[in-house]
Amino acid sequence: MADELFSNSYISFDVAKELEPNYRIRPLQPSDYHGGFLRTLADLTTVGAITEQRFIDQYEFMKHRQGEYFVVVIENLLTGQVVGTGTLVVEHKFIHECGLVGHIEDIAVAKSEQGKKLGIKLIRALTFIGEKVGCYKIILDCSPHNEQFYVKCGYENGGFEMVKRFDK
Ligand code: ACO
Repeated sequence: MADELFSNSYISFDVAKELEPNYRIRPLQPSDYHGGFLRTLADLTTVGAITEQRFIDQYEFMKHRQGEYFVVVIENLLTGQVVGTGTLVVEHKFIHECGLVGHIEDIAVAKSEQGKKLGIKLIRALTFIGEKVGCYKIILDCSPHNEQFYVKCGYENGGFEMVKRFDK
């Protein structure tokens, strides 16, 4: 069986079956380093030069934090390339009776595959995981130009984001 970041049982059956037959939605695998994962993320933002070892170290870090990191990918089975990805990070809190909050992060669909309803399926898949693990809410930050995409995914504007950057 392939090494996967988390159990495939967290992948929504409904989302998987609604995909066209040439796509598969699944957990991230180490082999995705060579399969277009980082290139797809580069359609979102700067990825930088990541060696295979660094990728594997990060993957192992996430894998050991059981139940915290859910990196989902959509693979185009005709090309064997990752064409979509998104992450749910589960935060453990004291408030709300030690509740869990899901954070949706790093959503990207390869430019050539945008507009084919892959993005909305990624969000549905991550939302399914958040509900399944018991999050009382899921939140995300996005730029105003993506607001309507998230509205179509069933999310609503819940405020605004404050930020202090250390990478400038
Ligand atoms: N503004 C308004 N509507 C949109 C937008 C948008 N930016 N993007 C998609 N939609 C609409 C579509 O028209 C479609 O509407 P319909 O159901 O009425 O036909 C619906 O949303 C679903 O669209 P998808 O085809 O599923 O969207 P796609 O697969 O192209 O993915 C995404 C959308 C993820 C925003 C993609 O364009 C992308 O990767 N962009 C670059 C990276 C990016 O901006 N990622 C989001 C960062 S925010 C974060 O990570 C939390």
